[in-house]
Amino acid sequence: MRTVYVNGEYLPENEAKVSIFDRGFLMADGVYEVTSVLDGKLIDFAGHAKRLERSLSELDMPHPEVLPDLLEVHRELVRLNGIEEGMIYLQITRGAPDDRDFVFPDPETTTPTVVLFTQNKPGLANSPAAQKGIKVISIEDQRWARRDIKTVQLLFPSMGKMMAKAAGVDDAWMVEDGAVTEGTSNNAYIIKGNTIITRHLGNEILHGITRAAVLRFAKEAQMQVEERSFTIAEAQKADEAFITSASTFVMPVVEVDGVAVGTGTPGPVAARLREIYLDESRKAAV
Ligand code: PDD
Repeated sequence: MRTVYVNGEYLPENEAKVSIFDRGFLMADGVYEVTSVLDGKLIDFAGHAKRLERSLSELDMPHPEVLPDLLEVHRELVRLNGIEEGMIYLQITRGAPDDRDFVFPDPETTTPTVVLFTQNKPGLANSPAAQKGIKVISIEDQRWARRDIKTVQLLFPSMGKMMAKAAGVDDAWMVEDGAVTEGTSNNAYIIKGNTIITRHLGNEILHGITRAAVLRFAKEAQMQVEERSFTIAEAQKADEAFITSASTFVMPVVEVDGVAVGTGTPGPVAARLREIYLDESRKAAV
């Protein structure tokens, strides 16, 4: 059984409790982060912590007291659960007032709820999917307009994964005004020649921590990077495609809406980026 963290306490998962009035439960009034663990260490922790603070600020959510100590909490959970490879999920909500109300509760009397738990995934970095690549379909992006904030409102992404599953593929890329925004839980890229193309930052997509690292490594390896919108038709004519996220690192995409990308097998550039990302991230892990 896992040991989880709830509001200052480390507890067995079946003893951890959150109120039915919690605004995360009633209003999806919460933000989250997923940080991966390799060799028992945290990947890109500083980036996730910084984005978390930004998400809280953008929603005028009080910063929980534990915020400066989150690295220690993450490490303690890794230690208590013996995680070598996997993820840490963290969620902060606006807390649990004593009734349901659209108006934000008084932060003097209602403090944020903080929950963390581990997900043990042996073999995460050696995933067979990375050898095979994944297939995606395109769907219309029907999420709210502040996708730069990492909120727990994941119903549409969850429906998108189900649409992908029903179509017999692995994931979905979301499209708005004819251009790809991102994957249901990852950022989307195409490669044409020596150029990596991925949507520019804005409120329309999550500012991926893995995205920032991968683009930095790509530039260091003398690859060209273009941050701009692209269409599904352009993706289908690309040499390669891939996604990035804390849980998939760099994952090749070999088919978009039934059309093979490039040779229809994982390409050399995505494979190289995955290798560089894993090597460099392991070196910098805390
Ligand atoms: N998802 N875009 C969306 C919509 C995401 O949900 C995620 C992450 C990303 C990639 O961000 P990062 O590189 O910081 O993980 C992009 C996490 C992994 C999840 O929901 O499980």
